[in-house]
Amino acid sequence: MIFGFESYGGPSAARFIEVDEPAPQPGHVLIEVEATAVNPGDIKVRSGQRQGAFPVAFPMAMGREAAGRVVAAPDGAFPPGTRVFGAAAAGFGTFAPRALLAAESVAEVPEGVSSAAAACVPVAVGTAYDALADLHLQRGQTLLVLGAGGGVGTAALQLAHSAGAHTVGVASESKRDVVEAAGAVFVRSGPGWPQRALAAAGIPDAVLDLVGGEALTAGAALGSDTRPAGAGDAIPFAQALRDMRLISAADPERAAQLGGSGIRRRRSAEVYAKLAALLASGALEVSIGRRFHFSQADRAVAAVEGGHAAGKVVVYM
Ligand SMILES: NC(=O)c1ccc[n+]([C@@H]2O[C@H](COP(=O)([O-])OP(=O)(O)OC[C@H]3O[C@@H](n4cnc5c(N)ncnc54)[C@H](OP(=O)(O)O)[C@@H]3O)[C@@H](O)[C@H]2O)c1
Repeated sequence: MIFGFESYGGPSAARFIEVDEPAPQPGHVLIEVEATAVNPGDIKVRSGQRQGAFPVAFPMAMGREAAGRVVAAPDGAFPPGTRVFGAAAAGFGTFAPRALLAAESVAEVPEGVSSAAAACVPVAVGTAYDALADLHLQRGQTLLVLGAGGGVGTAALQLAHSAGAHTVGVASESKRDVVEAAGAVFVRSGPGWPQRALAAAGIPDAVLDLVGGEALTAGAALGSDTRPAGAGDAIPFAQALRDMRLISAADPERAAQLGGSGIRRRRSAEVYAKLAALLASGALEVSIGRRFHFSQADRAVAAVEGGHAAGKVVVYM
């Protein structure tokens, strides 16, 4: 039984479907799923928005990441029963009691880290890590995260903060606590956010966009006619704006029009193991907003589909 879809469509396209259990294949690790997480990307795949860019084999389970116990691994890479996590194998999903992970992405879950937390690493935490790697943020520089209260944002703020960067999180008022807990200056989202951000923290060295659309475009005007009173001529304003680096997970096309780029995803076991070690040491915490049992997978997806999830939404078996 999977929670998945047999054709592209809206929320009603996804349902519980009886399918044969996935058979272990070369390059895949078969696991007994303990936890999996919901991501906006799952919804884009189900709706058909990613056709051509993303392999789908109907019927396919939703979900791109999971943690659980190894059933079978190629070349005995992991003994059966080992607790691992990783990204779904191409053409397979993870909203299922058993799932196939891409072997090159699979790492052990360290002692003391929950399967729920580990299941959130490949997509949201991994994307945050990759974004920061691409931004080459230096200690003491400022990172602004637009859409800071969700899965990628909460991880990015923590990773940047622990690397010695100043951080600014733009989010709705309901996420003030989670943004501040990650060590960031909170800025309320909505019309006028660039002016508020500028007044609170000046021009950032880098922007990580997790919203896109008009909210991102508004940010590009940062500084043009929004210079706060008393900013002073000492700030080389135009230069600072030109030097600001922009990267977007949500809207790479618009970011490119604005002089920025998308994120280059790594998805390697090496990176995932490093992030899991940060979880184990307490240097990084996954902010889990809501948990749903597998039987409520539709509700879990709806919680993310609304576009205003706080932290991660996790599905457990
Ligand atoms: N390329 C990749 O590999 C990759 C990987 C991961 C994610 N992504 C993309 O990155 C984006 C974010 O992912 P996520 O997992 O962090 O999503 P999420 O957990 O659903 O969080 C999205 C956040 O954006 C906030 N938001 C929505 N509209 C906003 C606005 N106008 N201004 C400020 N904040 C706003 C939401 O909350 P509030 O508005 O309520 O504060 C929410 O906290 C998605 O588009 C996703 O598809 C891409």
